[in-house]
Amino acid sequence: MSTYEDAYKKLAGCGQTHLLKFYDELSSEKKAALCDQIMATDFSVVDALSHEAENTARGELRPLKTMQIPEIDERREEFFECGMEAVRAGKTAAVLLAGGMGTRLGSPDPKGMYDVGISRRVYIFERLVTNLLAVTRKAKQWIHLLIMTSDKNDEKTRDFFKKNDFFGYNPAYVQFFVQDMAPTVGFDGKVLLESKDRISTSPNGNGGWFSSMVRCGLIDYLKEDGVEWLNVFGVDNVLQSICDPVFIGATILSGCASGSKVVRKTSPDEKVGVMCLEDGKTAVVEYSEMTDEMRNAKDDDGNYQFYYGVILNNLFRVDALEKVMDEKMTYHIARKKINCIDGNGDKVEPEEVNGCKFELFIFDLLRDIPGCLPFEVVRENEFAPVKNKTGADSVESARRLLLMNGVKL
Ligand code: UD1
Repeated sequence: MSTYEDAYKKLAGCGQTHLLKFYDELSSEKKAALCDQIMATDFSVVDALSHEAENTARGELRPLKTMQIPEIDERREEFFECGMEAVRAGKTAAVLLAGGMGTRLGSPDPKGMYDVGISRRVYIFERLVTNLLAVTRKAKQWIHLLIMTSDKNDEKTRDFFKKNDFFGYNPAYVQFFVQDMAPTVGFDGKVLLESKDRISTSPNGNGGWFSSMVRCGLIDYLKEDGVEWLNVFGVDNVLQSICDPVFIGATILSGCASGSKVVRKTSPDEKVGVMCLEDGKTAVVEYSEMTDEMRNAKDDDGNYQFYYGVILNNLFRVDALEKVMDEKMTYHIARKKINCIDGNGDKVEPEEVNGCKFELFIFDLLRDIPGCLPFEVVRENEFAPVKNKTGADSVESARRLLLMNGVKL
């Protein structure tokens, strides 16, 4: 058990002793819990605030050649055979990134619990499992499904899967793991308190998934079972095609150690990260960090240069990930409204952004991996993100696309 002295010493080293301001008011149980949380927290994350300009400065950006739909259609059978062989041999596993907070939908529940149905219940998790089941049935082979949660939604997510009998999936092939959290800070760089006895934390972005899987032994477990490729995908795309043999085959045959599904953007302003080369290496520039100049850059023929957006469906070769996992990843900063307590211990529920969250991005892993195949998909068939309640990328637009694809709602 950690002591006050340990905690104070650690905080003094990083200028955060204010976190113990209310210590004397706490019960002995809460005192111990706060000290334990302090000892378990990595405060070095906060340094990203003073290095933001250099961390987000970009190198020379160039377009990256994408494998486009006509070429994929021509070689579809060949890709399918190769990918299906890998799936049948148990070489692929699926990793669902479901640690995010889903705050834009205004629901306190994990995003995957959201019901997109109209006359019947159709949960987002259910849609994803159904899509994966389509492949396992064809392959006659179960695929390991790993689900990343966070401290904030782990219990609810596990309970929901159990309550719904894993939506027909084989529970022996489903595993949950919890991602890391990062402290949140005010604009002055001081870590916020959620309450007198708890530091305010938030999930540290979707980029820490692989190291979290290694830490809890899941990578060794999968490797022992023959898994060589991981298809990692976001929770909010209800048309997400998972462990798609054509994509897997195309990536394997390309010789690249990773692949990324992309769509043609609908407009320069669409909120998707774009794939490109940065100083000769694969990169994704996130929409929130894109300059107007980049958004609107055109080539000599008048076409937008950076026009392929990622849909958060990536394939990685496990051995390549193992080689890069010790490289230090950059924390990106998201300015948000963060509920906390103030210096008097009073609750603050801000109307305006009041602090920063720190996030690792999955695609920053691509930089040092030998090769990434950008693989174009038909967006109407594979991209129906549920991010907002209405408007673009909303429950409404996703429903329209699901119905178009013959899904009963
Ligand atoms: C994400 C991509 C963006 C892409 C878009 C496609 C990132 C950083 N951005 O944007 O480039 O064009 O999807 O729809 O990936 N998550 C966690 N833990 C976290 C944070 C997020 O598991 O700490 C998961 C979420 O549950 C979700 C996914 O990562 O499945 C993306 O989350 P979000 O941060 O909302 O990214 P978007 O803005 O949707």
